[in-house]
Amino acid sequence: MTISKTITLANGVEMPRIGYGVFRMKEHEVAFNGVIEALNAGYRAIDTAAIYQNEEAVGEAIKASGVERSELFITTKVWNADQGFDNTLRAFETSLKKLNLEYIDLYLTHWPKPTLAETYKAIERLYEEKLIRVPGVSNHHQHHLEEVFAVANVKPMVNQVECHPSLAQHDLRAFCAQHNIAVTAWAPLGTGIVFTHPIVKGLAEKYSKTPAQIVLRWHLEVGNIAIPKSVTPQRVKENLEVFDFALAVDEVAAISALNTFHRTGADPDNFDF
Ligand SMILES: NC(=O)c1ccc[n+]([C@@H]2O[C@H](COP(=O)([O-])OP(=O)(O)OC[C@H]3O[C@@H](n4cnc5c(N)ncnc54)[C@H](OP(=O)(O)O)[C@@H]3O)[C@@H](O)[C@H]2O)c1
Repeated sequence: MTISKTITLANGVEMPRIGYGVFRMKEHEVAFNGVIEALNAGYRAIDTAAIYQNEEAVGEAIKASGVERSELFITTKVWNADQGFDNTLRAFETSLKKLNLEYIDLYLTHWPKPTLAETYKAIERLYEEKLIRVPGVSNHHQHHLEEVFAVANVKPMVNQVECHPSLAQHDLRAFCAQHNIAVTAWAPLGTGIVFTHPIVKGLAEKYSKTPAQIVLRWHLEVGNIAIPKSVTPQRVKENLEVFDFALAVDEVAAISALNTFHRTGADPDNFDF
């Protein structure tokens, strides 16, 4: 299947299918250099969050790169402690300032706290005020999305969740598809658990690609957006080189069947942060 480099979201905005994640890159130099590396390699989407403590470094790298703002797709997220309507508006202003930007492309509720509805209403306000181009959420199970739907004038257009072959999220992805919500996969490589699986290894050999590239291509084939993180220049580059080959339908199915419901991170129904 031919897959374009961007996906059209519910409101017509184009979002790159592969973005650069910057979690666990707290050191200024690491985040700055990583974003520069990614932008030079051709990435146009950066995924950060207030809690990653690197919004300033990301903003500085964006400016230093010289890439036109209109070419970029920047995502950030409101942290759990800042949820609620007014707090979210304040947190957004802080993120905007730190990133040194005039608008954010995609703003997300980072995790579903009991205040997720008010938080989303604030995100919707930011969308109405054209301070963000796309309203979204993260780590929302179906029932969290339904809580949001109950108050939303405009449904979230992206749900960013943990997703990889070991946690393929078949049901949640189907539900999101029904509601025209694009799914972004965080931890798209699933800590490499399936890299040594014979199916993934075999496909890597068949297509002369790395196991990571096979997994990223699987994300594209099932319709996901993926935001791999790497501080290794060669990996940053290779993670974007997944548009020049395709997996066959049965190969996609074989990878999808590796699902074991294995989470590498917290369950959105059971977390203590
Ligand atoms: N919404 C949320 O709650 C949430 C939670 C977690 C993450 N995220 C977002 O999702 C992004 C990605 O998630 P993640 O960082 O947890 O997981 P990931 O991108 O699946 O994996 C990152 C790890 O894989 C390694 N790696 C990267 N490319 C590789 C390759 N081609 N071959 C082998 N190893 C490779 C990296 O090592 P090196 O860096 O050493 O190269 C790093 O250890 C984050 O940066 C963040 O933006 C969101």
